[in-house]
Amino acid sequence: MMKAIALHGSPRRNGNSDTLVSNFLQGLRASGHSEIQEFYANELSIKPCQGCLTCNKPPYKCAIEDDMQEIYSAFIDADVVVFATPMYWGYMTAQLKTVLDRMEAIASQRLFRDKTFVAILTYHHHYESVVAFFERIREYFRFRLYTITYCSLGKDGQNDVHVSNCREKLEEAYVLGKSLGEAAT
Ligand SMILES: Cc1cc2nc3c(=O)[nH]c(=O)nc-3n(C[C@H](O)[C@H](O)[C@H](O)COP(=O)(O)O)c2cc1C
Repeated sequence: MMKAIALHGSPRRNGNSDTLVSNFLQGLRASGHSEIQEFYANELSIKPCQGCLTCNKPPYKCAIEDDMQEIYSAFIDADVVVFATPMYWGYMTAQLKTVLDRMEAIASQRLFRDKTFVAILTYHHHYESVVAFFERIREYFRFRLYTITYCSLGKDGQNDVHVSNCREKLEEAYVLGKSLGEAAT
């Protein structure tokens, strides 16, 4: 059984990144062998990392008791981890960045190794800073990385065009999910 978790970074339920995640997960489910857990960072109680470095010493545990503890255990067991976020002021949302900072507690144990990461990034002008971040740490942590990006800026240069209007992108997310699900069976 393949285990997957999706970390939703957007505060907008059913927005562009949520919708791409749901298409990706539909594809994954189609393989029939996946167990999926979803986390909406905006709706959880997750305190920012306090930099105490308690987690770098045995028993390598984060000192903060909050909803992040549930993400840790799901993350450790997961084969596939989806990081979904819109671009906000040049980077991922504060909600997802807070989750990532707290990953310090498990990063020192090399628990990222051999996982498949899927970065789903929605944007108006640029997404490269987030891709560059994942690519840079991939060398060290040795995970596999797939990226799906969607530009939601309409032709008028102002309005947001929801991804549900872009069949190719929905298909791309579905097909990636399906292929990862099938590869694991
Ligand atoms: C506060 C805020 C800041 C944003 N900053 C950026 C940005 O720096 N670069 C960019 O390309 N898009 C930016 N956007 C546009 C969003 O990334 C884009 O609308 C995205 O598709 C929203 O995804 P969602 O529907 O999953 O929330 C910003 C949007 C908001 C609300």
